[in-house]
Amino acid sequence: MLILGIESSCDETAAAVVRDGRDVLSNVIASQDELHIEYGGVVPEIASRAHVERIEPVLRQAMSDAGAALSDLDAIAVTNRPGLIGSLLVGVAAAKALAWSLDIPLLGVDHVRAHLIAGALERDDPVFPALGLVVSGGHTSIYHLNSWLDLTRLGATIDDAIGEAYDKVASMLGLPYPGGPRLDALATKGDDSAYAFPVSLLGADSLDFSFSGLKTAVLYTARGTPTRVNGVTRFERDHTNLTELEKANIAASFQKAATQAALAKLRRALEKNKETGETGVSPVYRTLVVGGGVSANSRLRRELPTLAREYELELRLPRMRYCMDNAAMIAALGARQLAAGLTDSLTLQASPTTALS
Ligand code: KG4
Ligand code: ZN
Repeated sequence: MLILGIESSCDETAAAVVRDGRDVLSNVIASQDELHIEYGGVVPEIASRAHVERIEPVLRQAMSDAGAALSDLDAIAVTNRPGLIGSLLVGVAAAKALAWSLDIPLLGVDHVRAHLIAGALERDDPVFPALGLVVSGGHTSIYHLNSWLDLTRLGATIDDAIGEAYDKVASMLGLPYPGGPRLDALATKGDDSAYAFPVSLLGADSLDFSFSGLKTAVLYTARGTPTRVNGVTRFERDHTNLTELEKANIAASFQKAATQAALAKLRRALEKNKETGETGVSPVYRTLVVGGGVSANSRLRRELPTLAREYELELRLPRMRYCMDNAAMIAALGARQLAAGLTDSLTLQASPTTALS
């Protein structure tokens, strides 16, 4: 079974051909970083125009890399939520046109759910139930998964997503967009105990996240205490006043707090289900699945295996190339939807929000 996946929810135009929901025959990603760098973030109007220009060459490349003809395809899977609406519409329109002209099923895929399946690409499915964590630029959420299609959200960020916090802190330190990977690299050169930044755990039982307090603590450390003069907020200094070592120390201390927040909530979810018996491991979960751009983070990738071992869970981390937005994960989830008969009609709508509440 051959599925063409299409992804255009933010600033990557991507297409991939995936066989049997796991074997990636092609994975083409056209990044728009160079178009947004001067604005320090994604400009929605620029993103959707760039998708229009790139979608056709990206689709052609994905088909030719896979050595497949359009007539070989069994279905078209496309991200239809969540994301920037103008960007989503480009992928959805292309997918509808292909599905209609080839007379094959159309599958609308939720981008956040698809991040969770990235760790199953090119591998067999893990054993369920699984505990899932999505850490991306738009989402930070924990899920209970009975299968790839049957999942419940246990918690989510109440303010910034973890990737968003990475990008904002990177910008405070003068690093160019997208700052997450650069901040990660800088953190490896610093001392993570140089600053005691807060790890927000919210209420004692909460599985929600909050990164705004951490972000503000870093802001005040990097730029000094703000004052308001005539309604304008002024800081004592900016990143140009920081030495390279100070920047690296701030990056390392932030990285420690941000990743500790994610790990602490996973631990809390696992503790809630802990057996009182001898084993001390969760009787509920067999697997830990993690996905999203921040699953590429070096510290998270170093610490997650320890947590998984402690709770006797199989850890499913995506390969580096499947952490960031890609269409292979969209095709993979589409394959499960097709097998379950969950196809969509040509009236499929794009939506800025996730279907998971
Ligand atoms: O999943 P993704 O590609 O897009 C969304 O769905 O949002 O995630 C992008 C996010 C960005 O915020 C980026 O800075 C962050 O992932 N990111 C990282 C790393 N690599 C990407 N954050 C921390 N460390 C990294 N190594
Ligand atoms: Zn994403």
